[in-house]
Amino acid sequence: MSGIKSKPYKVFVTRLDMPGDCVELLDTQVKGVNGVYCCLNDKIDKAVLDAAGPSLKVVSTISVGVDHIDVPECRKRGIRIGYTPDVLTDATADLTEARSGGWVSWAPTWMTGPGLSGSTVGIVGFGRIGQAVARRVKAFNTAQILYYNRSTRPEAKDTGALKVDFDEILNKSDFIICCAALVPETKEIFNKAAFSKMKPTAIFINTSRGGTVDQVALIEALKNNTIRAAGLDVTTPEPLPLDSELFLLDNCVILPHIGSATIEARDTMGELTANNILAALNGKEMPAEYK
Ligand code: GLV
Ligand code: GLV
Repeated sequence: MSGIKSKPYKVFVTRLDMPGDCVELLDTQVKGVNGVYCCLNDKIDKAVLDAAGPSLKVVSTISVGVDHIDVPECRKRGIRIGYTPDVLTDATADLTEARSGGWVSWAPTWMTGPGLSGSTVGIVGFGRIGQAVARRVKAFNTAQILYYNRSTRPEAKDTGALKVDFDEILNKSDFIICCAALVPETKEIFNKAAFSKMKPTAIFINTSRGGTVDQVALIEALKNNTIRAAGLDVTTPEPLPLDSELFLLDNCVILPHIGSATIEARDTMGELTANNILAALNGKEMPAEYK
């Protein structure tokens, strides 16, 4: 049992207890570290990688999204990337079903909105989270669940969801839920043309990344009643400035990017992020390497 020594690795751990970007810290504090433990609001770009230097072996993010990391640049430098898939799927899928509002009194039409029962729900991005949303939505007696995804998902069969093209999902859905990762192909796919193809009664929900939406076009669509309403857990930028027009619209509900904010999910994500770093620094298989 003797003789097992772990090397003294240096890991930069981002600010975890309070929201806020620590980009300004990253640049100055990553010099010579072997690992970076970051959040989705820490931009890990070329400048940060340069500042860290060749000692950096792993970037591990406490998020499933990796759009804040310059992935090709990490690949070039042989830096491995850890992320947290699976462990936040349930929490995020649950949030997609939530509604919020202030209770002041009661009236027959107050706080009413269309129900899911009998409706057509369209899910854009049918990965783990999209599929978990489909399983939940099905329990509400929806008439049909449609999905749009670049590749066909064989697992979709279990959810009873039908693969359609992007135009069809826009035309037919009463609820359109965006669960797509932000990659070049999904950047602002919800633009003016897309909103104009939706039903005027459609409700748009986004729990993935603000960057999948042309936010100016969304604001116009909500103001002109091109669509009925939107529920957003993600925006551009984040936090959304208080003077954003989105806050003034009574047909828009905004949450502060809390899709994965259950204590259980965040505990597991934190542990997984740390284990990804330890595994990478010890040359082992990472529990969740982004490949
Ligand atoms: C949350 O948005 C995540 O990517 O984990
Ligand atoms: C995230 O877990 C996804 O693939 O949707």
